[in-house]
Amino acid sequence: MNLQESYLDLVVKTVRGFSPIPEYAQLDVDRTNLAKEHVKKLRSDFKGKQSGNIMVDMAISMGSSMLTKTWKKLNPVALTMCGDESINQLKEALATIYREDIPGDFIEAGVWRGGLPVIMKSYAHTQNDLNRKIYIADSFQGLPQDCSDPKDKAANLLLTPIQNLSTSRELIENALEYFNLMDDNIIFLEGWFKDTLHKIEADQFSLVRLDGDYYESTHDSIVELYPKLSVGGYLIVDDYNLPLGCKRAINEYRKKHHITEEIIKINKQAVYWRKEREL
Ligand SMILES: C[S@@+](CC[C@H](N)C(=O)[O-])C[C@H]1O[C@@H](n2cnc3c(N)ncnc32)[C@H](O)[C@@H]1O
Repeated sequence: MNLQESYLDLVVKTVRGFSPIPEYAQLDVDRTNLAKEHVKKLRSDFKGKQSGNIMVDMAISMGSSMLTKTWKKLNPVALTMCGDESINQLKEALATIYREDIPGDFIEAGVWRGGLPVIMKSYAHTQNDLNRKIYIADSFQGLPQDCSDPKDKAANLLLTPIQNLSTSRELIENALEYFNLMDDNIIFLEGWFKDTLHKIEADQFSLVRLDGDYYESTHDSIVELYPKLSVGGYLIVDDYNLPLGCKRAINEYRKKHHITEEIIKINKQAVYWRKEREL
């Protein structure tokens, strides 16, 4: 590993909350009791009736195990819930953007604790790139409650005990300071995507990462951001294959704009494609 690779590797390990001490290699919290309590509440709310949603019904019938498995991705000290495959794909995309000189800034819409923008910025540092802006878009209030897709509504029901993934801008600012990565080219877009993304000054992106899970969140972000993605740039969709509204929003947008670029699988949930032509 050369110095640049070691630096990035260290950033990624820290972002993921890893420790060199084997028994703390990836810190975990036991959320079994929280999950048990929540399943008890759901059972009492639905009183033996079907909820109308397969996810909620599964959580009710399987007990706490399904919820604890879903929440396990939320390491208490990690800055991202993404794993190896997604992070490696992000690094490969960044490497290609620099190698092929694809113009445009980077954006993640839906950052949770900001781990991926930290990796984007540290990657830019390894390239001595002080010009490219990194946009960080999030409500910092978690997932929206006024969603319309039944699958998203069900997800909201299952995520209430963990505050629907809400974080804070301050937490991400502190993280960027911690890595010495905070500067004027870090741009926060705080609020709901429908209110913030159309105000972006950037006219070109080379990498757009969508991670807002739900139908409206994905729709609102792809509508604003895809037209600004450079040809050769990457559109990454973290939640495409999750049982949520994300896939429908992406498929509708692709159909409407006759987008035929091949969708490439990253892991069980995430996909990407590279833009081959303007809309
Ligand atoms: C699954 S998390 C993102 C995970 C993150 N990319 C990571 O690396 O761990 C989804 C995030 O999207 C945000 N979000 C979802 N819909 C939104 C919307 N319509 N407007 C603003 N933020 C939204 C939530 O607040 C949450 O932080």
